[in-house]
Amino acid sequence: MNKPVLSLEEVSVSFGSKDPIAVTDRVSFEIFPGEFFALVGESGCGKSVTAMSILRLLPTPSAKIISGRIYFENQDLRTLSDAEIRRVRGSSISCIFQEPMQALNPVIPIGKQLLEVLRFEKKEAAMERIKKYLKLAGLSDIDRIWKAYPHEMSGGMLQRICIVMALLPSPSLIIADEPTTALDVTVQAQVMDILKRLAQESNTAVLLITHNMGLVAQYAARVGVMYAGRLVEMGPVDQVIDSPTHPYTEGLLAAIPEGHTGVQSITSIPGNVPDPKDFVEGCRFGNRCPFYTPSCNAYPPKQGDEKHYAFCIRKSN
Ligand SMILES: Nc1ncnc2c1ncn2[C@@H]1O[C@H](COP(=O)(O)OP(=O)(O)OP(=O)(O)O)[C@@H](O)[C@H]1O
Ligand code: SF4
Ligand SMILES: [Mg+2]
Repeated sequence: MNKPVLSLEEVSVSFGSKDPIAVTDRVSFEIFPGEFFALVGESGCGKSVTAMSILRLLPTPSAKIISGRIYFENQDLRTLSDAEIRRVRGSSISCIFQEPMQALNPVIPIGKQLLEVLRFEKKEAAMERIKKYLKLAGLSDIDRIWKAYPHEMSGGMLQRICIVMALLPSPSLIIADEPTTALDVTVQAQVMDILKRLAQESNTAVLLITHNMGLVAQYAARVGVMYAGRLVEMGPVDQVIDSPTHPYTEGLLAAIPEGHTGVQSITSIPGNVPDPKDFVEGCRFGNRCPFYTPSCNAYPPKQGDEKHYAFCIRKSN
């Protein structure tokens, strides 16, 4: 079998220097080369914290990875020096954020910013490659875009430019944290199509972070469902959709709205994600779960097989 490009083993992150509170708990998953993998869950479940822990982009000194290992292309990212992790960030792992302006400098023309990514290459060849990618990303009038400043572009155009920027260093992995949440639905679909197609063509793996199960269903091959800092279900997308094991996954699926617009919280199951200070060792979904029994107060057992599993005492059909 293929070796994973990224592997998280029981990663936990805490916030707070004086009385640290664990916000994620033993999160483990693997992403294989060229694979489109999604982490899904409601707001506050720990998706971004998990993604940011990979690249050590968590706010310091308050956030700490308190346990676990993060392997990327056979190296443990936790053991790298600051200079080494910066090199990984600039070349092997790229990020796309919800707000494109997080990645772009507002006072530098777009062409110049894209050239900067390929500053070690010959300028002519770099320009040619960038323009080719911009076209592949569905952008026309490239000469105008080249000279334009970010504020002159629409949100959808900027996110396409960010996809190009992320792909230019030929990374093995792109982490895309809610890349289309700020866009309207039609543009969202166009941007997701481009991300998927260009990543596929360059055999780049994608870690998509989203609260939108509709996007997962449409684009990802495998999904990890997060709830209250833990991974509660993992599996191939079609299996998870056809036969979800965890009641929380069922709730998320029931909340897929018409037109895949996505939701911030699930309305089909009452209640909210608990605050990390109220996290319990037993099942954290207990107070919202229609199948709760006192046995759920212990850490829920893993059930299923290596491909598709969930942490819940309830036996699936
Ligand atoms: N800078 C911070 N300081 C303290 N707690 C934080 C900080 N950033 C995140 N958290 C906490 O960590 C938990 C997980 O947050 P995270 O941002 O990973 O959620 P998320 O799943 O990405 O949600 P969203 O869909 O809203 O982006 C939350 O309870 C949040 O309050
Ligand atoms: S362990 Fe119990 S409370 Fe938790 S999801 Fe399963 S049935 Fe519900
Ligand atoms: Mg987030």
